[in-house]
Amino acid sequence: MTSHSEQPAAEGATASADPNAAAVNADAVASTPSTSAPIAKPDASVFDGIREKAAQVVARYPQSRSALLPLLHLVQSVEGCVTQGGIAFCAEQLELSTAEVSAVATFYTMYKRRPCGEHLVSVCTNALCATLGGDDIYARLKERLGVGHEETSGEPGAPGSITLEHAECLAACDLGPVLQVNYEYFDNQTPESATELVEALQRGERPAPTRGAPLTDFKQAELQLAGFFDGRDGDLAGPSAAPETVRGARLAAERSWTAPPMPEDVDLPPVPEKK
Ligand code: FES
Repeated sequence: MTSHSEQPAAEGATASADPNAAAVNADAVASTPSTSAPIAKPDASVFDGIREKAAQVVARYPQSRSALLPLLHLVQSVEGCVTQGGIAFCAEQLELSTAEVSAVATFYTMYKRRPCGEHLVSVCTNALCATLGGDDIYARLKERLGVGHEETSGEPGAPGSITLEHAECLAACDLGPVLQVNYEYFDNQTPESATELVEALQRGERPAPTRGAPLTDFKQAELQLAGFFDGRDGDLAGPSAAPETVRGARLAAERSWTAPPMPEDVDLPPVPEKK
C-alpha cells in the first residue's frame, strides 16, 4: 500500500463531485452561529449488504481496530470510494472515532475520496518508469481521456468509466514502464499500447494483464483486497513471476551457481546502547 502522495489535486475539468467536500461544507455551515441548519447524517443503509462481511473481517483480528484497513477496502467495494458514510460505518464497526478512521483513510492513496470509474488506471511515474517512458504514457492517457490525476472519464462507476492517476513505484522496476488496471500489472508499456488498453476498457473489454489475476473492475478488486474471493478460484492460475524478474535465479540454476554458505560464527559489531 502506498502512502499519500504529493500529486496535483486537479489537472482537468471533468472530475467527479467530492462527497467529502459536501460534508466539510456542512461542518463549516454548522459552525456558523447564524444558521441552525442540521448536518445531514450519512445514510448507513447503503452498507447493509456488507454488514455480515464486515463482521467476518473484524473477527479475523485479536483487536478489532486492526481490521480498519481491510474494512476501508470493503466500504470502497460498495461506493467506489470512502465517503463520510463509509468512515462512519467503519468507526461504528470498530468502536473508533470518525476522526481516527479519517486519519487513516486520508493517509493512504489506495483509499479514494472521490468515486472511481469502473476501472482505475495507475501509471507509474516514479523515477525509473518516468525515464523509460512513464511520463509520456501518463501524458498520452491524460490527453486521450481528457482528465488529470484522480479524475474520472465518464460517469464514475458506469461501464467504460476510467479514473486516471499517477502512481509511485509499483515495485516492478525491471519491467518498466508499467501501469496497473485495478492493481493488476501491464508491463513494458508504451504510449501506444497504453492507449489501446484504455480504449479496450472503454469498449467494455477486459484485456489480460501481463501476469497475475484476470482483470475485474475496481469495486470487485476492492472486495478482494478486503479478503473476499468468491467466484475467483481461477485467479491464481495465470502467470505470476515475469521472466525478467526470475532471470537471475534461472541463470544461477542452469550454471549451478550458489551463494557462499553463511559462516557458523560471525563476529558482529557491538550494538550501541539505547539512550
Ligand atoms: S519506478 Fe516504476 S515500478 Fe518502480
